[in-house]
Amino acid sequence: MFLRNISRAIYNCSGRASYVTKVPKPEVPKNPLEKVYSASQQKDNGIIYDKKPFKITLEAGKTYHWCLCGRSKRQPLCDGTHKDIFLKVTQRPIRFTVEKTKDYWLCNCKQTKLRPFCDGTHKNKDIQEANVKI
Ligand code: FES
Repeated sequence: MFLRNISRAIYNCSGRASYVTKVPKPEVPKNPLEKVYSASQQKDNGIIYDKKPFKITLEAGKTYHWCLCGRSKRQPLCDGTHKDIFLKVTQRPIRFTVEKTKDYWLCNCKQTKLRPFCDGTHKNKDIQEANVKI
């Protein structure tokens, strides 16, 4: 957003209609374990936990379990709530790792197509207008 605003400012100051700076889309990381564990192929998404992603520092090579069902109390990671037989949860957590130690944006709306990373799906109107109890 910040870079987008800068490019518009340059555009406006130059006074030329052809001077527009393109801002590259942010790179979304991939889960190296995606093809290893079948849980990554689950079709159903969980309930919307939050309408925005969660920033978290992850260590390279460490294995994490991202909550897909949306019911964990340790969001965005799994706390085992999906095992409660009374909740009848069908989703399983997504096992993942990262290649670099740094900050990542993990999906908290549970609707991303690039599990477990935020791909911007939370900006969709239906998600922003959904009733969410946190
Ligand atoms: S928080 Fe789910 S796609 Fe961004």
